Amino acid sequence: MESTILRTEGLCAYFGENRVVNKVSLSIPEMMVTTVMGPSGCGKTTLIRCFNRIHELIPGAKVEGKVFLRGEDVYATEPMIIRRRIGMVFQRPNPFPTMTIYDNVIAGYKLNGVKRSSAESDEIVEESLKKAALWDEVKNHLHRKGTFLSGGQQQRLCIARALAMNPDILLLDEPTSALDPKATARVEQLMAELKRTVTLVLVTHNIAQAGRVSDFTAFLYLGELVEFGPTERLHTAPKDKRTEEFLTGKFG
Ligand SMILES: Nc1ncnc2c1ncn2[C@@H]1O[C@H](COP(=O)(O)OP(=O)(O)OP(=O)(O)O)[C@@H](O)[C@H]1O
Ligand SMILES: [Mg+2]
Repeated sequence: MESTILRTEGLCAYFGENRVVNKVSLSIPEMMVTTVMGPSGCGKTTLIRCFNRIHELIPGAKVEGKVFLRGEDVYATEPMIIRRRIGMVFQRPNPFPTMTIYDNVIAGYKLNGVKRSSAESDEIVEESLKKAALWDEVKNHLHRKGTFLSGGQQQRLCIARALAMNPDILLLDEPTSALDPKATARVEQLMAELKRTVTLVLVTHNIAQAGRVSDFTAFLYLGELVEFGPTERLHTAPKDKRTEEFLTGKFG
């Protein structure tokens, strides 16, 4: 049995009075890929933004219920610590436009005011780019702007930037939806490699992608967790009719 790294208990999220995540209790297994699936607007993005205390940054947004990271109460811990331990990659690659590739990777350290020697920085940059499978493509022009890269490379740069902080969990919100099929395949392959060192939570609309890369799947509908289990079991023998209808393309 795999161990749980992150657990939610009766998690609710609001925009003003509008509750968009409704009493979600979920355990994310460590060193696995878990996908969060469900139709547009069902609360996938909002749910994962509650994991690392990003949801509450939106004016009027509110969170209720519990989130535990390795048993520690996330909402009783300094948000900056949580955000360092739970990294995030967004749908659109968003490297800092004025920064070089090198500075993008090390940006988290700068923002957090973490002191390190230039040799240490070099090492972190190289290691993170290697983990993100981008090193060979960029090692000869680390001091060029990150925005000169292709979309797929930019997305791997954003993954490298998140990995540089050495997170326990990496949240990926539709990381390939802005990429072409080749760049998508590269990122999927990368996810398979990454799960050896970091727990991944992937939001995706792409059912085939979820089948290819994820070990576990959570199916969300209208803010509620309908079903959670091994991806293969969900795809072959969903227990809930709504899961089955979604997976067979009847809605979503
Ligand atoms: N900034 C916001 N202010 C108010 N309501 C919002 C905001 N962001 C999202 N919502 C609402 O919250 C609900 C959940 O949105 P969320 O973005 O979490 O869904 P999602 O499952 O990620 O959708 P998609 O698949 O389209 O990305 C939706 O009804 C949406 O309209
Ligand atoms: Mg979303």
